[in-house]
Formats: sequence, C-alpha cells, structure tokens
Amino acid sequence: MTVKRKHLLGLEELEPHEIMSFLESAKVFREVLDRPIKKVAPLRGLTVVNLFFEPSTRTRLSFELAEKRLSADTVSFTTATSSVKKGETLKDTVRNIEAMKIDMIVIRHQSAGAPYFLTRFSDACIVNAGDGQHEHPTQGLLDLYTIWTKYKKLAGLRVVLMGDAKHSRVIRSNIWGLTKLGASVAVCGPPTLLPVEMEKMGVEVYTDIDKALDGADVVNVMRIQLERQTSGLLPSLREYTTLFGITRERLKRLNKNYTIMHPGPINRGIELADDVADSDNSVILEQVTNGVAVRMAVLYLLAASEGKNVKQD
Ligand code: CP
Repeated sequence: MTVKRKHLLGLEELEPHEIMSFLESAKVFREVLDRPIKKVAPLRGLTVVNLFFEPSTRTRLSFELAEKRLSADTVSFTTATSSVKKGETLKDTVRNIEAMKIDMIVIRHQSAGAPYFLTRFSDACIVNAGDGQHEHPTQGLLDLYTIWTKYKKLAGLRVVLMGDAKHSRVIRSNIWGLTKLGASVAVCGPPTLLPVEMEKMGVEVYTDIDKALDGADVVNVMRIQLERQTSGLLPSLREYTTLFGITRERLKRLNKNYTIMHPGPINRGIELADDVADSDNSVILEQVTNGVAVRMAVLYLLAASEGKNVKQD
C-alpha cells in the first residue's frame, strides 16, 4: 500500500497498482470509521487547507472529516467569504495561504486544470476535489471502492455511466479508473451530451438506454447539471426523464444483484426515480460513508510519499 506521488490530480495519470493502493488503504480506514473512537494519529502536526471555489456538500465535509479523523489541523476556505470577492487571483490567494506554513491543499475549482496550475508554484501536496469538467478523482476512487467492496472485484463487471457525459468530471474519473482495473464500461445519454472523445476512452457509447442497461451489474447515474444547461442541449427535462430517467421498469434489464449509484446531489424524479434512489439496491449513502475513508487514504498515502512522519494505525 504505497504510492509514490506528491499530488492527486486525476485518475488518468495513475497506474492500476496505485489505484489499488488507494482502495486497499481505504479499506483499513473504513474499519476505523466503525470504531467507537473514529480517530487515528498519522497526520498529527500536518496542516491541510480546503479551498472550495465551487459549492460542495459531500466532498468538502468528507475531506474535513477525513482530515480530522487523521488528526491533521485543518482550515477551510470558501470564495463567498474570502478576498477572492475583492478580486484576488488564485495564485496570490494560494501563495498567501502557503505563507502561513501549510502542508496540503485540497482544491475544487470551476476551471479545468486549476489543481495542475497550483503545483507550479506551491510546495504543498495538491489534491483535486473537482476541476471544471475535467476530473473528480476522489469521487472516482470512492465509486470504485464501493463497487469493489460489494462484488470483491472490478474486472469483468459491466458498469453503465448514465447521463450528462459532456459536463461530468465524475464520468471521466470513473472511466479512467474502471477501465484501468478491467471493468467493461458503457456511457449512455442524449447525443448532445455525449462528447466525441468518449469512444476514444475505451468505453461503449449508447443513446438507447435499454440496450445500455442490458446485462449491467452497476448503474452509476450522473446528475443533470441544471446550472450548465444554458445552450439548448436538452429539449426539456421532461423529455430527458422519459428517455433516460432510471425507473423501476428499466431495472428489469439489469443483472441480478445489481447496484444503483449516484455521486449526488440527486435531481429526484429527473435522472433517478425516488423509489430507485431509496431502494435496497441503492448504495448512494454508502458511497458517502466510503468517501470519508477514501479521502483519508488519499491524504495519508500522499503525505507518506512525501516522507512526512506518518503511520497507518
Ligand atoms: N459528489 C459531489 O462532488 O458532491 P458535492 O458537490 O456535494 O461535493
């Protein structure tokens, strides 16, 4: 369980053995979360800053919890209450924060590549918590972890990624991670939300939901990003739901012991029916719990790779 890298910027650049190290380490930390005292000491003395330039509930809170569970000192930054509002640049913001002697930065930013940009002038370990439409690597890892712990494997499973592939950084991280570990991946959505490069990423691409779902083990449903649908890519939400919404009726095409996933937040009744989201086959809240363990693993392994004095309890 070692990773030799300072930053986690995307799953595209990871080797399969590195992804497995994150998953194996998360398994140990997942067990810590079930203890009465959910705290271990490997990051004691390190300082982690959470920089969130876009809204977040799950990712921000689970990073904060992961840092606290690992005994790191943490501070969080959101644009609404910062000097970004007065026009301060990303570079100046980060250089000022770094002047306060910090060790790791977790960043979510609306621009693809912002975490890479930080690595050019910061000495801190950088963790990408979602950059534009590029990647959301810790969401990809927690999705992989959730599937892997349920089925005890990833290779050979058929996973369908449903929805807005054009805007979804979660889809991209899922594709890189799942294909590297041998899963068979299909992406399904309206043609206007399926970028041409998808096929080059080693996945099957479908616009017919029934064909996509045939024989699938896992359906990971992406959020329709209502805030990004400004250029008429969808005729209407009602039409999207009719053609691509995941309903009980459509689940008949899946394999027995199928799994429903969603990274959240859910548009209930649009991309996912209420009764499916809350069904026994849904692992949506388990994904959230696993997210804390996976983020503990990421912070721990990056810090260890940098020679910080850390030890996994
Ligand atoms: N899945 C996810 O990234 O959710 P948040 O936007 O709430 O962090």
